[in-house]
Order: sequence, then structure tokens, then C-alpha cells
Amino acid sequence: MEYKNFINGEWIGSKSKQKFENRSPANWEELIGVFPRSGPEDVDDAVAAAEQAFKKWRLVPAPKRAEIIFRAGELLRKSKEEISRDMTREMGKVLQETRGDTQEGIDTAYYAAGEGRRLFGETTPAELPNKFAMSIRQPIGVCGIISPWNFPMAIPTWKIFPALLCGNSVVFKPASDTPLTALKLVEILAEAGLPSGVINLVHGTGSGVGTPLVEHPRVKLVSFTGSSSVGRQIAAFGGKTLKRISLELGGKNAQIVMDDANLELAVEGALWGAFGTTGQRCTATSRIILHEKIKEKFLSVFIERVKRLRLGNGLDSSTDVGPLISEGQREQIQGYVEIGKKEGAKLVAGGRPFEEGECKKGWFYEPTVFDEVDQKMRIAQEEIFGPVVSVLTARSLSEAIEILNDSSYGLSSSIYTNNVNVALTAIRDIEAGITYVNGPTIGAEVHLPFGGVKDTGNGHRESGTAVLDVFTEWKSVYIDYSGKLQKAQIDNVVIQ
Ligand code: UN1
Repeated sequence: MEYKNFINGEWIGSKSKQKFENRSPANWEELIGVFPRSGPEDVDDAVAAAEQAFKKWRLVPAPKRAEIIFRAGELLRKSKEEISRDMTREMGKVLQETRGDTQEGIDTAYYAAGEGRRLFGETTPAELPNKFAMSIRQPIGVCGIISPWNFPMAIPTWKIFPALLCGNSVVFKPASDTPLTALKLVEILAEAGLPSGVINLVHGTGSGVGTPLVEHPRVKLVSFTGSSSVGRQIAAFGGKTLKRISLELGGKNAQIVMDDANLELAVEGALWGAFGTTGQRCTATSRIILHEKIKEKFLSVFIERVKRLRLGNGLDSSTDVGPLISEGQREQIQGYVEIGKKEGAKLVAGGRPFEEGECKKGWFYEPTVFDEVDQKMRIAQEEIFGPVVSVLTARSLSEAIEILNDSSYGLSSSIYTNNVNVALTAIRDIEAGITYVNGPTIGAEVHLPFGGVKDTGNGHRESGTAVLDVFTEWKSVYIDYSGKLQKAQIDNVVIQ
């Protein structure tokens, strides 16, 4: 039960010998394992190994790099059940969802592997005779990957597989709440044949490992998913050093339900969007904007369904909603519920920790719904990251979109309608990186860009081919075969 860091192909403890415990959020008596509490000296070793390994890895042809990633996908597929069970023990979400999380890693492996034989640049005419022009992608170097606990397999693979495919080496600092899933991923990459030093895993806290990794001068790129406040600090550092920083940050995602929508479908979507992963997704539905004409009807069915959701251990197949990740997170949720009440919103479901039976040893919280929420209230503006949803009312499509857009975030969004004109207007006017029509705010697929606008990030995208722009530099290449000095723009022959 004692696990290690992975540096330069070796499993080793932290230099300081310090450790931390990883316990199940569904039952704090269950110890998952003990992991190294690493520090800057371990980060130094990992970066040195990654820098050395990069020199050879960048020269391995991309289709060959891809074969290793493909094999990692195959190994993930073989271990899917075991990894998913461990993930549920480690972070709490129900088994159906941890299986989905692992599947997302498998999908990403196959997608990234396919890219090994593409990784397209452009060939294009040159403006001068006897001159050839093209653009190619080149790797960047050592990438620092800092990932969250809510998608402990999917999100690291969104970053690590394309980073490796593009020829970079990696130092990976996973969330300290989910070190085991991260370790399994690294084990699999090693087993798939990734050369030593190309991936390095350093466990520990944000201040102990994350900050030294971000600030390490030989780390050329940082990809981070987490809170907007930490993202801002990393971006500020990137501003000072001109290091490349890719950020996926918070969300305050909304689902609009129009008066012509299929209400049964919209209720199903809202339940899944708001309470899947116990609301701990960046894409979770945390606002429901209801057209006034269907509001009462929607809410009566929705609240009834919310009250029927079963809380429990995610390994139990009858559980709908697992625990929150930690005591601190539960305190934060309770804090927001108090704020909502003070602000004058009407609590219509939940609003308390859930401590019945076995659940008393875990960080459970009742699925919570606030009605009569005003768009200016803090519970309508701030990311709560838990099972709390705010209901707002709109009289028209334009008002619904205005409410939806009245947010500093812009990750995911959804509209339920059967009117094609309404749907297309919403797609045009909603300010978000993702818009679903007749689907909830969660459910992104790995071959489309993932990310958001406004405070949700800094303009980069993960997944799809868009992620290749994060992990490569463009190089433009000009080959002059005229045998003489030709001057672009200056030898400007005008054809009459
Ligand atoms: C997240 O919300 O933190 O779209 C990631 C989804 C998943 C990924 C979500 N495929 O729900």
C-alpha cells in the first residue's frame, strides 16, 4: 500500500522521505495507500530526467511514438474494470462514471495514436519562383502537467497522450486526492514501452510540487486544470517568463429549458448534469434557466426526482450520487448553501450533509436545489463545485441567453428546445466553449475541442486536433532552389 514516484524509469520515494495518506471519501477509515510527499528537489530530478529523455524522444518518428500510445490504450482497456473500481474508492464517483472516465482515457489513446500518421502541417505555394514552402509541427520540450481529482484518468490523458505524441517529455503532478489512478496510468505507459525519463510522476501538494514545477526554468510548458484563482497565478508567472501556459479553469454552466422542450428529457438532462460526479465537474450544470411557461411543471417533476436520488458508496450499484471529495469541499458547499439562504433564494431540496447509515463515515451531501435565484446572487455567479443547482426564470429566449451569459465563466451550456430557429440562435449567441442542444452540459467527446471562453481559460483547447496547438510549435520552412538570392516582398514582380 506504499507507493512511489516514477523518475527516469525508476520507482523511488521522495528525497525528504515524507509521505501522505490517501483515504476514501466514502469512508475515511478506508486507507487507499501512502504516497510520497515530494518537494522541489524531487521536481528537479524529474525535470532533469525529462530533459535528457527529450533529446532522443523528439527524434522518434511520430508514427512510432503513436504505437506506444496505442499500446497504452490497449492496456488501459484490459485494466478498465480494476482501474475504475480503484478510482471509485479513491475519489467517490459511482462506478458507471469511473468506467466512463477510464473509457475517455482509452478513447484519447486511440485518437492520439491515429494522429501519429497525420500531425499535418501545410504545404503551400511560395510567392517567388523555384521556392518551396511548408509548415511543420515541432515538440516544445519538458511539459509540466498538473491535473485535478474529478477526472483522474480522462484529464491527465487529454494532456499527456498528445504531449507525448507530439514528441515532448512530461513531468506529471496529479492531484493529491487521486494519486493512485495517476500511478496506474504511468505504470501502463511504462509497460507500453515508453522510454525511461519520457514520463515522470511526482506526487505531492500544490505548493510542494506544483509551484516548483511551474516555476522550473527548464519546464517549457505548463498545462493545468483546476481553479481560476490558481490558474491566474500560473498565468501571471507565464506572463513574466513567457512560458507557454494552457489553462482549463472554472465553469458556471447553465441549462436553458424553453417552453416547447420535451420536459421529461430536460429533467433527465438536468439531473445528470447537476448531480453526476456529485456536481464536481467543471462542466456540471449549476444553473437551470426555465421559461416561465413551463417552470412550475418542470420544477415539480425535477424536485421530486432529486429527492429520490440515492446517496451511497459508488461501488454499490444502487447508488446514484457518491460523496464529495473531502471535508474541506463539504464545508465549502455548506458555506454556499448558507450564502444562498441569506441572499434570499428559496431552498427547495437538500441543503444538508447526509449522514445516514454507512454514509456517516464519508463526505456526503444532499442534492440541493435553490429556486427563486436572482442572477446577481453569489450562488448564481460563483463556481460551487458540488451538488447544488440554482433555478432562474426567463420570459423569452433572449432573456434566457442574457441570464446564461451573465457569468464570468464560459465553459459548457445547454438548451432544450424542439424549435430549430431557437436552437440555432442559441448556438450563435451563447458565450461558451461548448453548447449542447437537447443534451445536458456534460458529455464532451474526445475528438472535439474542449475548453471555454472568459475566465474558464486562456484561449487554449484540449482534445480534438486543437490540443496539438498546445503541445507543438509551428515552424515555417522555406527552401529556395533557384540558386540565387531571392527577396520576398522586394523582388515583387507585377504580372501585367
Ligand atoms: C470536467 O467537467 O471536469 O464532458 C470534464 C464531460 C466529460 C469531461 C468533463 N467528458 O462530462
